[in-house]
Amino acid sequence: MQQFLIAPSILSADFARLGEDVQRVLDAGADVVHFDVMDNHYVPNLTFGPMICKALRDYGITAPIDVHLMVSPVDDLISQFADAGASYISFHPEASQHVDRSLQLIADKGCQPGLVFNPATPLHYLDYVMDKLHHILLMSVNPGFGGQSFIPSTLDKLREVKARIDESGQNIRLEVDGGVKVDNIAAIAAAGADMFVAGSAIFNQPDYAAVIQQMRTELAS
Ligand code: DX5
Ligand code: ZN
Repeated sequence: MQQFLIAPSILSADFARLGEDVQRVLDAGADVVHFDVMDNHYVPNLTFGPMICKALRDYGITAPIDVHLMVSPVDDLISQFADAGASYISFHPEASQHVDRSLQLIADKGCQPGLVFNPATPLHYLDYVMDKLHHILLMSVNPGFGGQSFIPSTLDKLREVKARIDESGQNIRLEVDGGVKVDNIAAIAAAGADMFVAGSAIFNQPDYAAVIQQMRTELAS
């Protein structure tokens, strides 16, 4: 059983004081910093580029940075985020012309590769690349915005992916992103997830340590 990782999405952070806010959420017990990168092409929203990743590294953030690319094409940004200090990089298979090559590029650049599945994206993209994956990210909302509601059918999809991971015998992290809250994180973990992206549930609270502790208490229950 993998250790549970809590990965706040900076999409909901205070961008006027980003470095401080990210350090604050890490000091409050978060494990990984989740970057929701959007290009207003693959998804109908625009967020930030590699320079923000480099700025946080230069500020002194040393925790893993988990880059979720909601962009198309992906390969140039894979390289740029790797050079800017990313730790994990995932992309949507529909957004890459050559999924195996993009996964290999992430590994060649020294980062941990992942694939991201939208709620309606079928799992057959996993068929020939399980050996290349560090993590699989299931979207429990349609990508583009924070603060949406968790899509319940994600729980069955999580169970299906968890079964495939167990069958593969590989140590692949199963990450979930979208609408993760204190009151649903236990059910999400029970379905097989071990890494949890949460933006609004954490950054919209005044006391980050309290809400992260509540999540950990739920995960331990
Ligand atoms: C959607 C984003 C959101 C975000 C999490 O594209 O990926 O899922 O990270 O947002 P919350 O936790 O506020 O639903
Ligand atoms: Zn994300």
